[in-house]
Amino acid sequence: MRDKPDHYSLQAQREGYPARSVYKLKEIDEKFRIIKRGNNILDIGASPGSWTLYVCRKLKGTGSITAVDLKEPGKDIKCSNLKFFKDDAFSKNFQETAVKTGPYDAVISDAAPSTTGNRTVDTGRSYNLAEDVLNFALKNLKSGGNLVIKIFQGGDEHQLIDIMKTEFKTAKIFKPKASRKESFEVFLVGTGRLHAEQ
Ligand SMILES: C[S@@+](CC[C@H](N)C(=O)[O-])C[C@H]1O[C@@H](n2cnc3c(N)ncnc32)[C@H](O)[C@@H]1O
Repeated sequence: MRDKPDHYSLQAQREGYPARSVYKLKEIDEKFRIIKRGNNILDIGASPGSWTLYVCRKLKGTGSITAVDLKEPGKDIKCSNLKFFKDDAFSKNFQETAVKTGPYDAVISDAAPSTTGNRTVDTGRSYNLAEDVLNFALKNLKSGGNLVIKIFQGGDEHQLIDIMKTEFKTAKIFKPKASRKESFEVFLVGTGRLHAEQ
């Protein structure tokens, strides 16, 4: 059990973010230059909304953000250029929405499955989710676009990164410092989408 908030949780409170996970995206963005002003961004698995708020603050009123989650976002997520959808990101309904709000300059996904505590089951669920995100992104990213996908490490993430290596200029597995050491999450980061369908 975690008995006291760590440095990142305290920083998130001070900076008005609902979750410490924002610093994972910040680190990824600073290293790989994922989000630029004027971009059209899709945030999958967005609630409570830290990543969305980070993107919103970075875009400073330029571009647009589409965010989707099974759950509502936090009440304090206010952003003039945000469209939030309470939906399954892979439902037929949201696929149609994505066609209208896309194509995107970046797709970022911190989506995580409900966990059981059984590592084999949890990594399997995470893999399926990450694979869905990858297929979705390949359909909806612009040429040159960027992709970030959270996945629980179990070995199979190498299959996805191998596909990403053929579809992006660069594709790397990255573990941000803000990701807790005991967590087995990592992020698949692709930059510069090649031969986009859009
Ligand atoms: C770790 S949280 C995301 C935190 C968020 N990035 C933030 O910084 O506030 C993972 C989210 O993924 C969402 N999720 C999982 N599967 C999903 C799906 N199929 N469609 C949409 N959201 C999904 C969950 O509801 C959960 O809110």
